[in-house]
Amino acid sequence: MSDPFNLRLGIIADPHVNVCEGEGSHYKLRDPSLQILEATLKDLENQVDYLFFPGDLIDAKYEPLRNLDVLCQALKKNLIPSFALMGNHDTPHKTTKDAYKKTDFIRRLSGFGFDGREKGYWRFDVPGKKITFLGLDTAQPFTSYGSVDKEQRAWFQSNLENIDKDRHVFVFMHHPTVVFHPVISEVEGMDMYVLNDNDSFLKLLCRYPQIKAVISGHLHAPYYKKVEGIHFISCPSIVSWPNMFVQFVVNESSIEYTCRPIRQRQWIDQAFKNLCCDEHSLRNFGTAENIVSFYTLGARKGSFQLS
Ligand SMILES: [Fe+2]
Ligand SMILES: [Fe+2]
Repeated sequence: MSDPFNLRLGIIADPHVNVCEGEGSHYKLRDPSLQILEATLKDLENQVDYLFFPGDLIDAKYEPLRNLDVLCQALKKNLIPSFALMGNHDTPHKTTKDAYKKTDFIRRLSGFGFDGREKGYWRFDVPGKKITFLGLDTAQPFTSYGSVDKEQRAWFQSNLENIDKDRHVFVFMHHPTVVFHPVISEVEGMDMYVLNDNDSFLKLLCRYPQIKAVISGHLHAPYYKKVEGIHFISCPSIVSWPNMFVQFVVNESSIEYTCRPIRQRQWIDQAFKNLCCDEHSLRNFGTAENIVSFYTLGARKGSFQLS
């Protein structure tokens, strides 16, 4: 039997695919978003065993049905078994022009973790391995804030009660469960970058020693934090600076992670310029230096031990 804990994972967070005209998306690159995703899929070809998209796959602000079509075409060319989750930008917005609903996303991405129940959360037991992936739906329509509802918590809990203690569980979700940087609790509005019900959800996570790591998107920045023995990892976005995707190598006793930049250098430079003069970010961080520091503080490479 091959090593039951050895796996290579790829994470493409927050690709925000948007081919529609309209208001720019500030620090997120809109026009090249599809090209960046396609190039990233190419870069990960034969490099990983499973691929994850922890939310904000499209931009639902104007014409999500069109963006979803384009996204699905790009993803279908990819041969790596893949899993998707909803982010806040995958849910209808007050400016959404078409009849898009959350269920459109779940139906079109059926097979990407979604199993036909029309629910935005899923479980996958890796064949031949002692590893289980649990994906959660933290996105609510018309808000950037995230939460895990009662029904989903019950589902999550009942799954974990029945997962053998010697398996490793990795949880994927769009909104982070922990505060990765003090600015998130200090600046008004930045608390959208942590789950609404984070204290109670953290307590729930801590009840299950099988949970080794919780991997999230939404923040668009690489961060790592260990709380109560669980490793929390925030993945950077491929369409905002520093424009990176993440590769993990999992073993029985450790996980190594590496953030890799997208291959189009010109778009990284453009994203850096956009970020430094982004009004919203300047309001939250005060100066361009503070913005850059927020996105560079977290380690881009590391490894941690699994107990
Ligand atoms: Fe995002
Ligand atoms: Fe988000």
